[in-house]
Formats: sequence, C-alpha cells, structure tokens
Amino acid sequence: MQKPIGVFDSGYGGLTVLKEIVKKLPQYDYIYLGDNARAPYGNRSFETVYHYTLQCVKWFFDQGCSLVILACNTASAKALRTIQQIDLPKLAPDKRVLGVIRPTTEIIGQFSESGSVGILATNGTVASNSYPVEIAKFFPELKVYQEACPMWVPLVENNEHQEHGADFFIKKNLHSLFAKGENIDVVLLACTHYPMLQQKIENHLPVIVKLLSQGEIVANSLVDYLERHPELEQQCSKQGNRVFYTTDSTEDFDNHATTFFGEAVRSKHVDLESNKI
Ligand code: DGL
Repeated sequence: MQKPIGVFDSGYGGLTVLKEIVKKLPQYDYIYLGDNARAPYGNRSFETVYHYTLQCVKWFFDQGCSLVILACNTASAKALRTIQQIDLPKLAPDKRVLGVIRPTTEIIGQFSESGSVGILATNGTVASNSYPVEIAKFFPELKVYQEACPMWVPLVENNEHQEHGADFFIKKNLHSLFAKGENIDVVLLACTHYPMLQQKIENHLPVIVKLLSQGEIVANSLVDYLERHPELEQQCSKQGNRVFYTTDSTEDFDNHATTFFGEAVRSKHVDLESNKI
C-alpha cells in the first residue's frame, strides 16, 4: 500500500525544506512532524538527539512511511548514521531515512572560487564536525570554517527574527566566522531555521559572498533519489496531501508554521510517549 513521505524536524525549521520539496514534487503526499515539545535540539547531547530522533522515525514507520527525511541538520549530524547503520537493518530493512547534510556537501564546492566556505549551524551540528568530514570526501581541497550560532534558533522560534535584536547576534556570528576565514566566498545556512533570517544575514554579508540555503538543494536531491530508486518511489502515495503533526500545542504550531511554510497549516497533536493522536 502506498504511503506519504515523512519529513521531520525538531520544530518548525523543516517546514522551510518541505516548502521547497513541495514546489518540486507537488504530486506526493507528505506527513510533517515537528518535535516542538522538545525543541530546540541544537544544544542537546548526542544520546538525547539520537533517542528523540529514533523515536520520531519509529512514529513515521508506524504511520506506514517508507521514506523519511530528517529535515534537521542537528538530527542528521547526530543521529542519522546510527539510525541508518544500526537501527534500520533491524527495524525496517526496506525503509529509508535520508538527511540534509549529504546533499549539501556533495555540491557546496561548486559555488566557491576562493576555495574557502563558511558553515553556520547549531552547537550540536558544529560539534559533530559532520560538515568538514563530509565535505572533505567530495572537495578535499576546500577549506571549511564553522561558526555555531546558538541564539539564532531561539530568535526564530520566539518570532523575534525580524526585530533589531536579531541583527546584533547575526553581526556577532558573521564577524566571528570571517575572523576565522577571511577568504570565505560561500556561506551555508546549515540549520533549517536559518532561512527565516536570510534577508538580515544578506544585509550583513559582503556582496561577493554567496549565501546558500538548503531547501532547494535537498529538494533537487530528493527528485534525483526518487528517480534512481523506483522501488521506493512506487511506495509513495500521490494525491497531493500534506498532514502536519506537532508534539506540542497545535495552536502555537499553526500560528508559527504559516511563516515557515508560506501557507496556512492546521496541525494535529501527537503524544509520542503513548503514540496517541
Ligand atoms: N532546525 C534544526 C537544524 O537544522 C535545529 C533546530 C534545533 O536546534 O532544534 O539544525
């Protein structure tokens, strides 16, 4: 039986990815789950992020999804590999869980002329070192500088991202990134919340610096993946439905989600502990 594609994030950020996926692949059905009750994940330990993410992946499997996308860099950095290598073979060998780091690291070097790129991400993603390690596989010569921006997700989650206070933290982190690597000519928003700050970030970047955001990159990569895996593609239902779940208040989710997704959203609550909807 065909089922929707699952899209997961710790909160709202994955909606910026889902928005781009839906633009490219509108025909498919999607289930989105935001673990808002436990967000942000960015400052949490490996064990905690892994435990939370695995619990959410299992929930998607219970809904019948054959393909789940972790539209969260922190979960992709801290949990994806273990889930793919250890859990999936035992739990559901025919199902697939994909992340957002690999599609980005495969192409980032194509955008840089100076040979230096900057990665802006949560503490967890930076500490995992996933970006430098993965980029080195595709672009071994590329110099990679990272900057953790722990205030940015809270600014977005608290709807402060368009206020003046946001400029202070954006300038602070960009200044620190460029102090590490002054030749940086590509900056990647390696957190799915950060596109909400894109305009402000652009205002504080030198004009020659390209700012990359992941939504479109991940969407293109999914198009390609589905073409290369017809056996999985055939398991995905195609009626153009989108269903949204949150582990926290649906009212809060619906109020915020519209900004991230670009259209009105009516979510349902899910209690992961009891799996009650
Ligand atoms: N949106 C998540 C990411 O891409 C992080 C948000 C959080 O800290 O939970 O990394």
